Amino acid sequence: MEHLMSSAPHMVDVLTIGKSSEGRPLKVVKVSTGKEMGKPAIWIDGGMHGREWIAPAVALYILKQLVENQLNSNISIIQKLDWYIMPVVNPDGYEYTHVTDRFWRKSRSKTQDAEFEENRMFWDSARECAGVDLNRNWDFHWGEVGSSDNPCSPNYSGLRPFSEPETRAVSDFILDKRDQLKAYITLHSYSQMWLIPWGFTKQKVADYEDLLYLGKKAIESLSKVHGTKYTIGTSPALLYPTSGSSDDWAKGKAGIQYSYTVELRDRGTYGFLLPATQIVPTGRETFAGVRTLAKSLINNRELKKSHQGRRRPRIGVQWQQLSDS
Ligand code: ARG
Ligand code: ZN
Repeated sequence: MEHLMSSAPHMVDVLTIGKSSEGRPLKVVKVSTGKEMGKPAIWIDGGMHGREWIAPAVALYILKQLVENQLNSNISIIQKLDWYIMPVVNPDGYEYTHVTDRFWRKSRSKTQDAEFEENRMFWDSARECAGVDLNRNWDFHWGEVGSSDNPCSPNYSGLRPFSEPETRAVSDFILDKRDQLKAYITLHSYSQMWLIPWGFTKQKVADYEDLLYLGKKAIESLSKVHGTKYTIGTSPALLYPTSGSSDDWAKGKAGIQYSYTVELRDRGTYGFLLPATQIVPTGRETFAGVRTLAKSLINNRELKKSHQGRRRPRIGVQWQQLSDS
């Protein structure tokens, strides 16, 4: 990130948007060309879960392609869009998977639950009960299905919505840029799935067909690169329901229309231990998918309209997007 900023200072900026529980800087890279301010933008994050190592690698791969590989096919997507890329949302968990436990998922915050600490001996004392599942800590249907109030669970939602510095920093940043942001993409692994909100309910979001249409175009391009097969649909339909997840929040609270969770390679042969030989191929194909999504957004009439100053609804209004069928 720092290298790209020094080699292309006219288009790359590294922003520190906060600090993790253990004090590590939370960094977002902004890629922006030209003088025009407030262009439509795409957000991509990775590494919200420590053990999903392919996600930060793919986020960095996309970043590098945007900055260094300005082939004909990449020009429009950097000229017409700004990009915000955050390769590691959970640096403490990521570090922990390198030095202590390769399969750690959560952050590493100390539990703030006084009641839990008093009764610690009643819980499984052999377990490490630090950390929060950062993909259950977002302030939208927080603490409902698919999350746990047990600090020892890998899906612990935290004491309250946005109890964690990582989710607070990212959500504050996104809210600040919500008028600009047209797509929210969060990279996870593994399963090879392109997931559409909602995660917390089986009801379909009102504009499900729009999200499905763009998502399908993305995975078509993705599959063409190495033949990797993706499925597309909602998390409750394909995987499991979850609540307090970032994709649902981005759509339901921040009002970003095209919100997706992308579960990268593979389908379980290696799982989280994806061999290094697959890093670049996964980056290549995922970039192809994201590039197609970006181009479709540029050609999308709705986007042009909203870019010409149409106000986005205020926070909360998006509740109406819940269809009643
Ligand atoms: N593997 C992800 C997780 O467990 C899936 C999240 C998908 N999004 C959702 N809202 N369910 O966090
Ligand atoms: Zn994940």
